[in-house]
Amino acid sequence: MHDLISQLIRPDIRALTAYHIPDPAGLVKLDAMENPYGWPEALKAEWLEVLRELALNRYPDPQGSAVQAALREAMGITSDMGLLLGNGSDELIQMLAVAVAQPGRKVLSLDPGFVMYRMIARFAGMDYVGVPLRPDDFSIDLPATLDAIQREQPALVYLAYPNNPTGNRFDADDMVRIIEAAPGLVIVDEAYAPFTDCSFLGLLGDWQNLLVMRTVSKMGLAGIRLGYLVGPHAWLEQIDKVRLPYNINVLTQASAVFALKYKPLLDEQARMIRAERQRLQTALTTLNGVHAYPSEANFILMRVAEGRADAIFKGLKDQGILIKNLNGAYPMLDECLRVTVGRAEENAAFLSALSRLL
Ligand SMILES: Cc1ncc(COP(=O)(O)O)c(C=O)c1O
Repeated sequence: MHDLISQLIRPDIRALTAYHIPDPAGLVKLDAMENPYGWPEALKAEWLEVLRELALNRYPDPQGSAVQAALREAMGITSDMGLLLGNGSDELIQMLAVAVAQPGRKVLSLDPGFVMYRMIARFAGMDYVGVPLRPDDFSIDLPATLDAIQREQPALVYLAYPNNPTGNRFDADDMVRIIEAAPGLVIVDEAYAPFTDCSFLGLLGDWQNLLVMRTVSKMGLAGIRLGYLVGPHAWLEQIDKVRLPYNINVLTQASAVFALKYKPLLDEQARMIRAERQRLQTALTTLNGVHAYPSEANFILMRVAEGRADAIFKGLKDQGILIKNLNGAYPMLDECLRVTVGRAEENAAFLSALSRLL
């Protein structure tokens, strides 16, 4: 069997290690940028009533028309822009790759960044070009980025706004320079939109190569897997051709429409996360041996003292707290850990466990 595997599976796929997601059982889960708040019981009961009426024997609405309408209304997406739904924004990244991939075509992004840009480029047989951010504050190195765009002529450029795993929001003027220099599409990935006041959504149409990608994951609906891409109709009509039929299942469609009716609740939860982020940030600055970077997302990147990250990560886990260890993930992230903002009591538990380890 192993011979056949090596004959059949592409060498670049065999060389990959599968994306590892640790088992969070029994731990305070501060590793995956999830919204920590659930729904009140009355709301859950109302949602279950909606689910009760669904026909699971039928295929879903192929266009997800009701979800599209609910997203347009909730997010202020006007009809002059197209909207494309994905099974999480990960699937949209995949559709974009499938739609443009050809030998020699490139995807460019800024590193350290969201790993799926690189991984999906590879899956689709495209080359990934990662331009390093500035190591001191993770801002865009504009001359290096413009050089790389000129040299590599990428088909797709991803700019995460704010960026994961660094948490900062790039300078909007730098982003505009990149959009104007790029020969292909520029996708501004606003996964963390609920936690910042800035967006490129209102600028769609100003450049013919700009698309904005968002997700409902971080606003409290990570479990239903729903991402959306917004931009000129002419682009999205083409990308829609590679979408698998029925990619948004019945349960997701109904749950999203239901949840978006209660957007004020989700907005209030985002506001609480922002307030907790501020508290966590302030508390981290009082700790010796930790440098916390500014964040406009629902997580904070921090750097600990030389040689300490692995031990602190493990020490936190031993005390029941799971965060993300980025040490070794990218040279610029040596000794870095990322903590997702949780509920007040989770953040307090994290802070006291951390201070015991410093
Ligand atoms: C920048 C960025 N984009 C996209 C995603 C993926 O979102 P989704 O859950 O919609 O696939 C993430 C998830 O961590 C992210 O950090």
